[in-house]
Amino acid sequence: MSDGMSGLSERPESAAVGVAIPHESATLHVTGAALYTEDLAGRTKDVLYAHPVQVPHAHARITALRVAPAMAVPGVVRVLTAADVPGINDGGVKHDEPLFPSEVMFFGHAVCWVLAETPEAARLGAAAVEVDAEPLPSSITLAEAIAADSFQGATPQVVRGDVEAGLGAAAHVFSGVLEFAGQEHFYLETQCALAQVDEAGQIFVQCSTQHPSETQEIVAHVLGCPSHEVTVQCLRMGGGFGGKEMQPHGFAAVAALGATLTGRPVLVRLTRTQDLTMTGKRHGFHVDWRVGFDADGRLQALDATLTADGGWSLDLSEPVLARALCHVDNAYWLPNVRLTGRIARTHKTSSTAFRGFGGPQGMLVIEDILGRCAPLLGIDAGELRERNFYQEGQSTPYGQPVRHAQRLHRLWQEVLDGGAVAERRQRIAAFNAGHPHTKRGLALTPVKFGISFNFTAFNQAGALVHVYRDGSVLVNHGGTEMGQGLHTKMLQVAATTLGVPLERVRLAPTRTDKVPNTSATAASSGADLNGGAVKNACEQIRDRLATVAAAMLGGDDADIRIVDGVARRAGAPDGVAWDELVRTAYFQRVQLFAAGFYRTEGLHWDSSVMRGSPFKYFAYGAAAAEVEVDGFTGAHRIRRVDIVHDVGDSLSPLIDIGQIEGGFVQGAGWLTLEDLRWDTEGAARGRLSTQGASTYKLPSFSELPEVFNVTLLTDATEDGVVYGSKAVGEPPLMLAFCVREALREAVAAFGPAGISVHLASPATPEAVFWAVERARTGDGHGAVAEANLAPPQPGAQAHPLRPESERVGEAVHHG
Ligand code: MTE
Ligand code: MOS
Repeated sequence: MSDGMSGLSERPESAAVGVAIPHESATLHVTGAALYTEDLAGRTKDVLYAHPVQVPHAHARITALRVAPAMAVPGVVRVLTAADVPGINDGGVKHDEPLFPSEVMFFGHAVCWVLAETPEAARLGAAAVEVDAEPLPSSITLAEAIAADSFQGATPQVVRGDVEAGLGAAAHVFSGVLEFAGQEHFYLETQCALAQVDEAGQIFVQCSTQHPSETQEIVAHVLGCPSHEVTVQCLRMGGGFGGKEMQPHGFAAVAALGATLTGRPVLVRLTRTQDLTMTGKRHGFHVDWRVGFDADGRLQALDATLTADGGWSLDLSEPVLARALCHVDNAYWLPNVRLTGRIARTHKTSSTAFRGFGGPQGMLVIEDILGRCAPLLGIDAGELRERNFYQEGQSTPYGQPVRHAQRLHRLWQEVLDGGAVAERRQRIAAFNAGHPHTKRGLALTPVKFGISFNFTAFNQAGALVHVYRDGSVLVNHGGTEMGQGLHTKMLQVAATTLGVPLERVRLAPTRTDKVPNTSATAASSGADLNGGAVKNACEQIRDRLATVAAAMLGGDDADIRIVDGVARRAGAPDGVAWDELVRTAYFQRVQLFAAGFYRTEGLHWDSSVMRGSPFKYFAYGAAAAEVEVDGFTGAHRIRRVDIVHDVGDSLSPLIDIGQIEGGFVQGAGWLTLEDLRWDTEGAARGRLSTQGASTYKLPSFSELPEVFNVTLLTDATEDGVVYGSKAVGEPPLMLAFCVREALREAVAAFGPAGISVHLASPATPEAVFWAVERARTGDGHGAVAEANLAPPQPGAQAHPLRPESERVGEAVHHG
């Protein structure tokens, strides 16, 4: 009866997958009853609170650290320093992140931690610690790092064809520079870990982490103990978005170290400002490019150098950069291509995973190029995009065939039709003709996003499923819940495979002592991987129960179907109820629990040459946005968005639509609102000046599109993935490119026809205002002169786009 991998995508009758149900914790979320890690401290006795000692230098050597004054503060119990670390003093996996550093690498770097009876005592204690620091030279901006030749890690290259020959033969060659900013995760729950030690010295860490197994590993190496002495549990996260893939480990290690040294539970819970100033963000990039088109606007060659702002340590910068290089093509066929990547080291927080994991950064490059070049080619930007779409049979620059390329064309057409785009374009033209100071724009952009971890080994998962004697089912799996609805989907997968009603299945919190060696819940692969493992465990149990049922009902094991909690022979009216079947199996001494395992087949990737087929499949989508821009202020709003997105056969449609809406809005935030700024001058050099929601503008309800239509692509079953579904967590973020491109269209409408609009990223109202000013003067090239008007910050200034022939060497690179 076991159907193996070939049957992975097949759905049985009356399946619990595909039913639109709310998130399993929705009621708890909205009533405030849901517990997060910090809430657990309130239920724990004798907890000590930790506070970091943050040093206010971008880069400095610590010459003295005096903790005695802290010990004099009432309530302070202990100060943790490097001397306390029994194992390895490092909070990362690359061993370039000292947990208690002797060299400060970014403004606000914590050099030691104070433990006290109350959070307030810990704060006062931290303020009393005396630190002598000798400032060292620093690079804050990408431009400074590039000028100082400050780089770290690998310099990968993706190459296909002959770029120089392609550019040489192209009818049109353009070049330009793009700089764009990173993004703060701003998960609602800041980083948090609570550690306890039991009577045998075992460490139990409850942690808001996307990667419990790695948190466990790092706690163990800091404590100098084997992994089996450390258990990490994650009940749920109040958002992760990639920011809890790598960043939680050090905080968990501080809590665990404190707990082992004091024998008391220790809570590390960052305040918002600590979280903003101490933890990594999305990578901003600097990109230099040259592109060639034929006479019809078909891409012939692209040469680009992508420099990622890695911050102070490597963290996940190498895999993020690899994914960026693997997504520069987005939906477009590039016959000749050379993409070079490098990672700058700057004295800022360590850039890390953020929804899309480099994919958005790579794709922004080509979408920006197409948006800027379309007017110069005299082709409508939407038409230019569509003309360059992959066709069936073509492959990516790194050599993976683009299966289902036809879906791009289908999605595009559905957005054009469903969004009544042609008709609205006419209305927008009429509106713009009648409104000199307000303009509207509409744009479509596509998404193609590779699913699987580039690093093949991570594409595995485990599960542990118990059926109790009363017929109730408990599921453990290796994935974590951060609001994305993974647990909801896993409940649906288990109920579907076992053939029981959803309410018979419960989910237990993620723990490293239940399922070991798990990968991060990341790369959108949580449901694919853990779903495969849960299904595998449930199939083992179901097959054993089928044998029991066949003996009760007559016939072959293979003829037994369990549907809606009743086992029957195919076609027979009578059957045996699930509870009775389980009870019978127990008395026959049949094993009622199973460990499941899944690994994605067919992946290969050679990172030394950046070639292979690293992805199981591609997730596709297309979106159209209509925006309105106020020419006096640059203020903009999104009037309407239409999305058609490919999730295969959805495991859970309500969850998937929520992921698409949330991802889209988060992407629009990155591209149009959220503006990270660091001080670059004086004593505060290197300080993050956007330290709270008061200065860092996040999208909220008021920035939602006024009309927001999200449709799931139909007839989209994905073979070889659990119940025919596709991953959904990250790809929709990149649908938001259409907002940026619509802003470009609206800005262009302020000027004469045919000008190329350069937009800074983020395209904040301020940036849009300056773009409008340039457009009004008909100046498609005005950015350099104008750049001095805007405050210095990454992304605010960049080169104008000029045809190659007009370029006057490499002009100013502002930071
Ligand atoms: N959705 C919510 N609500 N909260 C989150 O933190 N993280 C995103 C995405 N959707 C996130 C989210 C990221 S970065 C990833 S990789 C996926 O969810 C991870 O979960 P999955 O693999 O189960 O989709
Ligand atoms: Mo997501 S950035 O892969 O955690």
